Amino acid sequence: MDHVGASLELIHLVCATLIFIRDVTKETSGHTNTTDFLNRTLVFLEAFSDVCFSDVSGLLRDTRVNPALTRDVECSLYSLNKSLAAHREAWRYVGKSLKRDGEQRSIDDLRRGRAATLDTLYEKKAWRDEIKERSQLWREKARSGLYDSLFGPEEMTALTCNCVRWTHRLRQTIEIVFLGIGPPTPEFRRGRQAAILGVEEILERQYRAGEEPSGNYNALTGTLRDAIGIEHSSQGLIKTIYDDGSEEIDVLVEPRTDKDTPAEYMCHLTWLLQAPHQTDVTVKHDAQEGYQLHTLSCMGFIDDPFHKRSLIIYRSPQSHPWASNPPSLHDMISKGPTARPSIGSRFLTARALASTLLENHASGWIHGNVQSRSIAMLPRSLNDLELSPFFVGWGVLQPLEATQFPLEPNLYRHHARFGRPSSEYANEHEIYSLGVVLLELGLWRTMAKIFARRLEKFPHFAIAQQNDLFNRIHNATLDWANSIEIEREMGKRYAQAVLKCLTWHYQDPVEGMLEFRKQVVDVLTAGCGL
Ligand SMILES: *[C@@H]1O[C@H](CO)[C@@H](O)[C@H](O)[C@H]1NC(C)=O
Ligand SMILES: *[C@@H]1O[C@H](CO)[C@@H](O)[C@H](O)[C@H]1NC(C)=O
Ligand SMILES: *[C@@H]1O[C@H](CO)[C@@H](O)[C@H](O)[C@H]1NC(C)=O
Ligand SMILES: *[C@@H]1O[C@H](CO)[C@@H](O)[C@H](O)[C@H]1NC(C)=O
Repeated sequence: MDHVGASLELIHLVCATLIFIRDVTKETSGHTNTTDFLNRTLVFLEAFSDVCFSDVSGLLRDTRVNPALTRDVECSLYSLNKSLAAHREAWRYVGKSLKRDGEQRSIDDLRRGRAATLDTLYEKKAWRDEIKERSQLWREKARSGLYDSLFGPEEMTALTCNCVRWTHRLRQTIEIVFLGIGPPTPEFRRGRQAAILGVEEILERQYRAGEEPSGNYNALTGTLRDAIGIEHSSQGLIKTIYDDGSEEIDVLVEPRTDKDTPAEYMCHLTWLLQAPHQTDVTVKHDAQEGYQLHTLSCMGFIDDPFHKRSLIIYRSPQSHPWASNPPSLHDMISKGPTARPSIGSRFLTARALASTLLENHASGWIHGNVQSRSIAMLPRSLNDLELSPFFVGWGVLQPLEATQFPLEPNLYRHHARFGRPSSEYANEHEIYSLGVVLLELGLWRTMAKIFARRLEKFPHFAIAQQNDLFNRIHNATLDWANSIEIEREMGKRYAQAVLKCLTWHYQDPVEGMLEFRKQVVDVLTAGCGL
């Protein structure tokens, strides 16, 4: 059987089992959450099945789709099916006592190609009636100990975790499918199925990556309460209030010199960053499992020709209204050991950063300037004590005509971009930069500190030094990644993830994304509960 056929069979097995579980637990008090959750999962899987596997227009039947993606979907479904094994045993067990002449169905019939025809309404109804009957039987016959061990609260929690984990992965994979061949129709991104699948935001981002803002997109015309002095370095955020004439809004301002970000580029950049995304409370639930882009919600930009710069305006997350300018990750690490967060909290930050990079690439976006100075640390919501990372500093360019380069930002750059502003961006360049940031986070020491002596002596380097200097810096960076220190701080798996990022190389971008998710993002998840 091909991957599509196998996946279709698996998805039906999984749905049947989930319906069975839902029906068995339905009338038990305290299970309303479970019922709701199972219902939502079922609705997700049905939409997923429609979009990916439907007879004619199923996306995964499209020959342009990279087979690695189809395999990946099958693997996720296989794992989901496996995690329901005990419940399927229960199903089979009651099946034995169901006596109906000749015509008895079992889930295993699905294996023999019935799956494809299940879509027809009659089949569905007849089949669901049978599930009902079985769950009824199960409730009546099972001993209470047995019931609890399969359907008790602990089991249901474990079940929920598994479903959440694998549906997140299915969603992430389908995002990469969309990136390659686009959604089924241009209207899809605003439709019901996109909402059920939770892919509206990524589709909007992918759409904007290939489009231009309309001709009347322009700078904001409101005013800021506080003057933004020129002493504010690029990349630092300033908290103030924006008044658009009718409303006052808490904002964070990111100044950009025209040199870094030419005015014509500013429109497109801020329009991209206005693509909707969730940075609020909802993110919190999924911080350890979902794949999300952590960036701030952009409102636009203000022209400031007098100072030869623009100001990017972000809506402030609902943090303390009296809070001061948010620190960057670089600022926090520079404070030294007393400011060092717990290991679990550092894993959460690391995972959020890796997940942001993954979603960034799945959106068809490039950050272009990944370093600890372009990561703002903010509480996500009013009651949040922990700071979470948000990418800022998007799209800062290196001047193309330069012959001398500042060393510090280049410490984060891949060989192909080290003092080479005009080389074309590839995902692996950003993964390298992420590796450097993860190294800083793990060691709790900035690159500026690690290379302090060199930076003091040679803050700039010339084009002619590119290769030699890069090799030396890269070697030293790898030595740190291999050091006992990072392992002692964060454990072996973290150190390995850092090392992988610093030596990342995948020819094929799709495989690269799937492997990055597996070898970096998901590996970091394991440490989040520490
Ligand atoms: C279950 O529902 C109750 C109220 O209906 C809610 O307080 C509780 O947080 C929910 N539990 C989960 C795990 O969603
Ligand atoms: C779950 O979905 C079924 C079918 O759509 C519906 O009959 C049932 O009321 C739903 N249950 C809950 C708790 O939403
Ligand atoms: C689904 O899981 C069951 C275990 O419950 C296993 O026996 C079966 O082979 C799996 N089905 C497929 C198609 O992998
Ligand atoms: C970096 O390490 C490689 C392999 O260990 C070595 O061949 C190379 O000479 C080193 N380069 C520098 C500049 O130290």
